[in-house]
Amino acid sequence: MKLDDSIAAVVTGGASGLGAATARALAARGVKVAIFDLQREKGEAVAAEIGGLFCEVNVTSDDSVDAGFARARGAHGQERILVNCAGTGNAVKTASRSKEDGTIRHFPLEAFNWVIQINLVGTFRCIAKSAAGMLTLDPLEEGERGAIVNTASVAAEDGQIGQAAYSASKGGVVGMTLPIARDLMGEGIRVNTILPGIFDTPLLAAAPPNVKEALAASVPFPKRLGRPEEYAKLALCMIETGYFNGEDVRLDGGIRMAPR
Ligand SMILES: NC(=O)c1ccc[n+]([C@@H]2O[C@H](COP(=O)([O-])OP(=O)(O)OC[C@H]3O[C@@H](n4cnc5c(N)ncnc54)[C@H](O)[C@@H]3O)[C@@H](O)[C@H]2O)c1
Repeated sequence: MKLDDSIAAVVTGGASGLGAATARALAARGVKVAIFDLQREKGEAVAAEIGGLFCEVNVTSDDSVDAGFARARGAHGQERILVNCAGTGNAVKTASRSKEDGTIRHFPLEAFNWVIQINLVGTFRCIAKSAAGMLTLDPLEEGERGAIVNTASVAAEDGQIGQAAYSASKGGVVGMTLPIARDLMGEGIRVNTILPGIFDTPLLAAAPPNVKEALAASVPFPKRLGRPEEYAKLALCMIETGYFNGEDVRLDGGIRMAPR
């Protein structure tokens, strides 16, 4: 797909981190970008910077996502690009024993479900609603109507201690990439997924510098955290390269996560 100002895009999680970098990269190519995010202040700031639109959207809510697409399409027309970056995580062991008093507890199911609802169901909700809209578009060259990029994580393949919910949600995103690409192949919509390693985003901001340094040192090469612009570069490559379809691609400096 050729990127220019005739194309509209929706980026979920675009107020921060990987989504914000992708929103910036798309806008730099002239694409009209709508950001779907919960964080109004940060989302509005990114939208203002790139001449885009911020829509306060919660990807776990049908009504909220419907309202976001209605607003974005009203302003920019039907999107041909969807990039799903909205996501979250938690760290809880499946079952564990307290070191202090020996109390046994298990992963609370609401906490497990919360991550699945945002990362997996929220991603699918946005894909299904966006793809339905893309079906109304005239095809471009080679019959292409749209391109979708999702964000999983290397935790889909090598999840660490405490990551049962996060890994399950991201494994779900990896697992649904090919069947969704197959569902949409007859309509000229391509679907690909990126599995980022450890990226320097606000998600890691809370980590102390020595933890960040240790994480960077654990990357085979280059020995640093990933840059959000590197994620955006791959997302744009997936969108622009017509033969890229149904793929799950790690972007991780060669890292394979240890148990902890
Ligand atoms: N940073 C990393 O190292 C890394 C590694 C692997 C995967 N990822 C994945 O990349 C994606 C982006 O992460 P990031 O590092 O940019 O984090 P981030 O926290 O900077 O950005 C995530 C954005 O998603 C938004 N969001 C969360 N829940 C939402 C909801 N219910 N509805 C709408 N928006 C919501 C947040 O407000 C935030 O702006 C996430 O899916 C994350 O799991 C990140």
